Amino acid sequence: MGEVYRAVDTELKREVAIKILPAAFAFDPDRLARFQREAELLASLNHSNIAVLYGLEVADHTRAIVMELVSGTDLSDRISKGPIPLGQALPIARQIADALDTAHQAGVMHRDLKPSNIKLRADGTIKVLDFGLAKAIEGAGEAGRAGEAGRAGRPPPGKAGWAGRAGEERLRPLPPILFSAAMGDDPVVARLFRDIAH
Ligand SMILES: Nc1ncnc2c1ncn2[C@@H]1O[C@H](COP(=O)(O)OP(=O)(O)O)[C@@H](O)[C@H]1O
Ligand SMILES: [Mg+2]
Repeated sequence: MGEVYRAVDTELKREVAIKILPAAFAFDPDRLARFQREAELLASLNHSNIAVLYGLEVADHTRAIVMELVSGTDLSDRISKGPIPLGQALPIARQIADALDTAHQAGVMHRDLKPSNIKLRADGTIKVLDFGLAKAIEGAGEAGRAGEAGRAGRPPPGKAGWAGRAGEERLRPLPPILFSAAMGDDPVVARLFRDIAH
């Protein structure tokens, strides 16, 4: 849980988004560790469909993740307005899959992928947000993090190991998102589909 503000970087004269660890959690070791991990995992990723991390600021008891300000609407808000035509929904799903694939190759599992954590810009570009529950994939090894983001090779098919298990897991949220994007926000049908997909 963070508080996200639109702000201006007065040095670089650009708008940014600032995600602040609420003061109530400033002395909570678990929340501090999670916030730190969110920043570190985001820092290890470099992809056009993932909001860019600009920095982590620490002042007194306040911590703030400074990142690219993504304009547009949350995908959840867009879905609540009605179905997205398939011709638009499919490119959205494709971009989400690309972001997940890159994160996975960098050894990062998002674990909280849902429409409210996806931003849709007016030009059709999506950005995956909120790595607050993300984790480093255990055993990702040299194909994983540690600066290999975006460059790590895929494990060979059939030799997937962590990649196979995690690969299935990482794509699991995608069908329900695509479904609700294409069908609009019908909670009964969406729930049924989620149950079937799982
Ligand atoms: N980089 C960003 N640019 C624009 N809006 C953002 C950005 N990051 C987060 N938000 C907005 O703030 C909301 C909450 O941010 P999120 O990272 O999901 O925090 P939480 O952990 O509270 O869910 C998002 O749903 C989105 O609307
Ligand atoms: Mg969120």
